Amino acid sequence: MSSQGFAGLRVVGFESRRTREMESLITRHGGSPLVAPSMREIPLEANVEAEESARKIVSGGIDVVVFMTGVGADALFQIAEKTFPKPSFIEALSRTAIVARGPKPVAFLKTQGLAPRLTAPEPNTWREVLEVMKGLDVSGKKVAVQEYGVPADGLLDGLKKRGARVTRVPVYRWGLPEDTGPLKRAIREVSDGKADVLLFTNAAQIHHALRLAAEEGLESSFREALSRAAVASIGPVMSENLRDAGLSVDLEAEKSVMGLFIKEASEKCPAILESKRASSGARLEVRSYPVKPFSPGPLADSLFMKACRREKTAATPIWIMRQAGRYMKDYRDLRSRVGFLELCKNPDLACEVTVTAQEKLGVDAAIIFSDILLILEPMGVGLEYAKGDGPCIHRPVRTAADIDRLQPVRPKESLGFVLEAIKKTRSALKPGVPLIGFAGAPFTVVSYLIEGKGASNYLHTKSLMARDPSAWNALMEKVTGDTVLYIEEQVKAGAQAVQIFDSWVGCLSPRDYRESVLPHMKKLFSALSGKAPVIHFGTGTSSLLDLMREAGGEVIGLDWRVDLGTTWDRLGDTAVQGNLDPAVLLADVPSIRRRVKEILDGARGRPGHIFNLGHGVLPQTPYENVTALVDMVHELSRR
Ligand code: CP3
Repeated sequence: MSSQGFAGLRVVGFESRRTREMESLITRHGGSPLVAPSMREIPLEANVEAEESARKIVSGGIDVVVFMTGVGADALFQIAEKTFPKPSFIEALSRTAIVARGPKPVAFLKTQGLAPRLTAPEPNTWREVLEVMKGLDVSGKKVAVQEYGVPADGLLDGLKKRGARVTRVPVYRWGLPEDTGPLKRAIREVSDGKADVLLFTNAAQIHHALRLAAEEGLESSFREALSRAAVASIGPVMSENLRDAGLSVDLEAEKSVMGLFIKEASEKCPAILESKRASSGARLEVRSYPVKPFSPGPLADSLFMKACRREKTAATPIWIMRQAGRYMKDYRDLRSRVGFLELCKNPDLACEVTVTAQEKLGVDAAIIFSDILLILEPMGVGLEYAKGDGPCIHRPVRTAADIDRLQPVRPKESLGFVLEAIKKTRSALKPGVPLIGFAGAPFTVVSYLIEGKGASNYLHTKSLMARDPSAWNALMEKVTGDTVLYIEEQVKAGAQAVQIFDSWVGCLSPRDYRESVLPHMKKLFSALSGKAPVIHFGTGTSSLLDLMREAGGEVIGLDWRVDLGTTWDRLGDTAVQGNLDPAVLLADVPSIRRRVKEILDGARGRPGHIFNLGHGVLPQTPYENVTALVDMVHELSRR
């Protein structure tokens, strides 16, 4: 036994029958074991159809046997052996015409002293099998097709058409364990990047782990975690299975014996891991934070900015959409004297509202007081916030000619009041409190431009999109370009991060998002890349989140309609923001606390969670519930 061995590394194994033995071997070699049974042996007796086929082969009732896989062929032999002496089964088979799908069944048959009459060429699908079997007259013949896992329906149908009498021989050796709980927990731990070494001793282990990871929405993070850990295989067949599954193998045992395998892994894995992590370090850093290098200081070290970079934080940061709004008495008082647009256009007042909300609530970031629709005014469509009716556009855009008439936006000239408010706010905020700038996403802004007001079904928007893609794209391109310039100026003026509000994009199907929105969003995010971390937020987006993630953004904003924990698993490597239902803040504090805890539990302390509501705070929310929320998020997440 080596003196150091695994040196405290977390070593994960998937042994089922020898779970305890593997655990104690890992411990003995200095590792911290997590061994989760990954499979259950299905008794060979349960393979009734396979047994029946073996019987038919022995009694001469089969003319042709097709072996689809090596493992399946092996299993069929073992099943046959339970009833017949092995030589008699081999002898019976040698009297049939054997067809093999590829090199693996050929290799197995060779170990039994058998050679196939026909072997399908690459790529070894059932189509090649059917093709090569043209060299065999199967009309009226009895053909047995050994299947493993996937039914070979195409092959069976093709053979039947040639007049063959086909029997399927499904064989299986392994199923998922009856209790998949431990395996699921192990998969989670691995996906969270907590496993250093993975030991594979049986091919079914990787197939089952991948299958369950996929069911849990964790496949990509599981694969990603494996690419960073040290993956050790007990032998060449195991390694081949790992590679077939698209995974790389860092160590293949010199001796395929569990004790020696674990000893060898304990001696070699620490160094393998060190060199893997050293070489991937630079790449990982770029991926987790593809924005401009920052100088350390109170802002860069704030909880919020760290979470944007997916760094560990002492507690989960929180800010609240619409944190300066009508639920706050100070705001209502001010609004009784000043109109909304007037307020937005007065940098001193906008600064005061922004800073007051941040300081009174004790949230971890401020968001500049402004509105996503202000950008519409300089386009020349006429913007008004009518009392009680929400925003209204006087000259909505409906035709290509309307689009042509839209003015370009020069943010420094026409939105200078926002930039000025940002400058003032930056210097008024405490040095460690980041300021968030924002803009509407092109789709949401365009939907207002077209509908003229908040809409419930977006009929004008969707009909332009479907009817006239070139007009649609021209409009989206225009707004995207304006938005990039606007955000760039906000960052220059002093915003540390920005949020892109795609509040209404959830009305679209994935198909329409992919075709009519995604290309523009990609351009937007790539233009902003490296300038400041971007939060990509939308509502009603559960069917669009993968596409939104593809579009870009360092942080993905989630509304309350999705479960944060499992959605984060699905999205993989990204920071996330969210996602308490704003309506929960209308309840009592203990109930709010329960819901907050559930969200934090779902986040499981993963770096990169920014707490927020799933959408803006409602005007009727009791103020004390908002301050209680901020405190409880900090308290419950303190690490
Ligand atoms: O979050 C913040 O505290 C910053 C300020 C902010 C406002 N609007 C102030 C505001 C932000 C980030 C927005 C974004 C915004 N504005 C969005 C996207 C976010 C979301 O809620 O989905 C949208 C769709 C708008 C458009 C808008 N502005 C609407 C539909 C309305 C009327 C509805 C409403 O909530 O009153 C506004 C007005 C508005 N924007 C108010 C505030 C504080 C209320 C105006 C008032 O004082 O009466």
